Amino acid sequence: MYENELKAIHKSNRYREREIFDENLIDLASNDYLGFSEDKELFEKAYNRVLKHKTHAPKASQLVNGYHLVHKEFEEYLCEINGFSSGIIVGSGFLANLSLIEALVRKNDLLVLDEFYHASGILASKLVDAEVAYFRHNDVKHLEEILNSHKYHRAIVCVEGIYSMEGDILNRDVFEVCERENILLVVDEAHSSGVLGDNLLGVFDYFNITPKQNHIKMGTLGKAYGSYGAFILADLEIIDYLQNRAKAIIYATAPSVFDTALAHVSVEKTQSKKEDINRNIEKIKAVVEEIFAIKMQGMILKLDVENSQKALDIKEFARKKGFLIGAIRPPTVKHAIIRLIPRISTDIEVLKKFLLELKNEIYCS
Ligand SMILES: Cc1ncc(COP(=O)(O)O)c(C=O)c1O
Repeated sequence: MYENELKAIHKSNRYREREIFDENLIDLASNDYLGFSEDKELFEKAYNRVLKHKTHAPKASQLVNGYHLVHKEFEEYLCEINGFSSGIIVGSGFLANLSLIEALVRKNDLLVLDEFYHASGILASKLVDAEVAYFRHNDVKHLEEILNSHKYHRAIVCVEGIYSMEGDILNRDVFEVCERENILLVVDEAHSSGVLGDNLLGVFDYFNITPKQNHIKMGTLGKAYGSYGAFILADLEIIDYLQNRAKAIIYATAPSVFDTALAHVSVEKTQSKKEDINRNIEKIKAVVEEIFAIKMQGMILKLDVENSQKALDIKEFARKKGFLIGAIRPPTVKHAIIRLIPRISTDIEVLKKFLLELKNEIYCS
């Protein structure tokens, strides 16, 4: 039934497949920035936390009886360290964006997203009964132009802390523009939580911004924190509204109890080891800069390549050398790139040697 569509995908070199990779390959493709996905101590701590409770499964929506003490304790901990008054754990970052956009954007409101906002937000924007606009990536002047040229009841602006494919940091001026009345700012910190700021809490921490009533911070648990799920932190009224209006929260089973506990112990670890982690991040950034002359803003190294086929060839080259890297192709990005995450758990000498070989392969072969 979809033969022609699949043929077209193949023809444009955009065919994707799931694969079980050799566990011995060195992973520089995932978002496991801190190497927590292999930290068995964290796993055991989380297991023991959950074991203390009668139930280990959410069983129902948070609005029925799926809300577990493990969720509540993590929400409270996140609010405390991030300085927000309220929070809610949700099943995934995808669901979080869907929940936020679908619920917050009402008739006569204006939704404005950075053009590189995550696909989950773009999809959610198609569900709203309001005007939707995109501003050029990190271009605050363009954002202002859009806000000034529209009439709206409320405006909701969506940005990322570190952009997932570009790897660059949010333009700080966005916070200033959104100081105006009735502008809500949603910051998706999927790729900045755990890797940015003195306290590794993301862009609010990095820019030293105290959360205000118009700020919403979303973070995911499946990346630096080596678990699965997401959180939304905001003013009490907004969280209250979300749990009453966001369909993806109300009509979904509450997030996994174990994954929430695992994320909780992971965030605790980032707080107790922040100096060590930040030192390691800086070391890795220095290696990347030395080899590619690129100053990584987060922990995402983006390397442009000619086309999708070249990206796939380079990925295969890396695999033969024992490394996994990402070959990201359209439509995920406009032009094919190699996306590489130099995890801080990678041996620095091994990383250096590989990056040199990779550079040679990309630019000299
Ligand atoms: C910026 C951004 N937001 C949201 C998501 C979705 O998060 P999750 O994977 O937890 O659904 C991702 C994941 O790829 C992401 O990169």
